[in-house]
Amino acid sequence: MARKNTKWADPVDLAKDLSGKVYIVTGANSGVGLETTRQLVKQGAHVVMACRRVEAGEAEAVSFADLHGSHEVIRCDLADLQSVRDFIDAFKSRHTRLDGLMCNAGAVIMGSEAKRTKDGLEMTMAASVHGHFLMTELLLDVLKASAPSRIGIVSSVVHANSPKKRYDLNFEDLNWETRKYSAFDAYGETKLAAVLYALELGKRLEGTGVTTASIHPGWARSNFGSGGGFFTHILMAIARPLTRSMSDSNWASAQTSLHVLLSDDAPNHSGAYFSQSSVLYRDRECRDGGWPMESPYPNARDLNKARRLVAHCAEAVGLTNETENNQGCPP
Ligand SMILES: NC(=O)c1ccc[n+]([C@@H]2O[C@H](COP(=O)([O-])OP(=O)(O)OC[C@H]3O[C@@H](n4cnc5c(N)ncnc54)[C@H](OP(=O)(O)O)[C@@H]3O)[C@@H](O)[C@H]2O)c1
Repeated sequence: MARKNTKWADPVDLAKDLSGKVYIVTGANSGVGLETTRQLVKQGAHVVMACRRVEAGEAEAVSFADLHGSHEVIRCDLADLQSVRDFIDAFKSRHTRLDGLMCNAGAVIMGSEAKRTKDGLEMTMAASVHGHFLMTELLLDVLKASAPSRIGIVSSVVHANSPKKRYDLNFEDLNWETRKYSAFDAYGETKLAAVLYALELGKRLEGTGVTTASIHPGWARSNFGSGGGFFTHILMAIARPLTRSMSDSNWASAQTSLHVLLSDDAPNHSGAYFSQSSVLYRDRECRDGGWPMESPYPNARDLNKARRLVAHCAEAVGLTNETENNQGCPP
């Protein structure tokens, strides 16, 4: 049963014929990404499932067999910049249009020490922020050519955390080289970065027909956190029944992403933050969510900070020299 104040996408949007349209969903084999994908395929779209485990994507996609649209799974490990580039090459060799990109994948990488990718980036930030940044920037040409088109970036209420402890982007050490590592703080920073990237990109893309949004999906009963090992599994097994009345099905948690991709109104608010209702807001006045709503955290609305983040990401992923792909991206 759904919570009382769950926000649901307009049935008119969920009945639109998406035949001929192409979408990319990252992390499409699980939870929120899987339900988002399933609905788009149901409406006739072709969805490219960007999954780091192709076999997991293929296994889930078996359930799409009777749906109107189509899908393909292309491998993409967002924590590996070469894998993202390989994904882009594969996508562009097969497709010339892209109607929507949903940057959905994310994870908390548990542990008391920062884990590093082979590119030397902190793993949580790399998977959620750098990988999606590189993917998005390298797809802007196709998105512009396919306009009107949309980009959704999945964040979380955690981006604002609590009024007593807000996360901020520590530009002196975004890569956790000198700070004492905290997995939850790292995750919070990635979610603040998601809101800021959508804001910056929305401004940068004004007039192109490509619009952006950041998203809080809700408290999804997904596989989120399952990578945390045996202890986390036990904790989740205990917590799940206790939190059931406050949390959301994966379908309910996909509603905000679907609204962002399909509603006629979402493009009127490019760069904004869209949120499912959620008891997880520590700023209690936000608990009803909003499509869109103002983040309670002023730093999440700071365009200068957003531009600094983009400059950092461009350098970290090696995009500063690729002028054909990052036109307008600050050095
Ligand atoms: N669950 C919640 O309550 C909640 C609340 C707020 C925000 N969110 C956000 O919602 C989004 C979807 O999460 P979910 O709840 O649906 O969790 P989920 O079921 O764990 O799905 C996460 C997806 O991200 C993928 N992923 C993780 N690291 C990746 C990488 N390096 N490269 C490619 N894919 C990667 C996972 O792939 P594997 O299956 O291979 O691990 C999985 O497909 C995430 O961004 C999460 O932060 C979730």
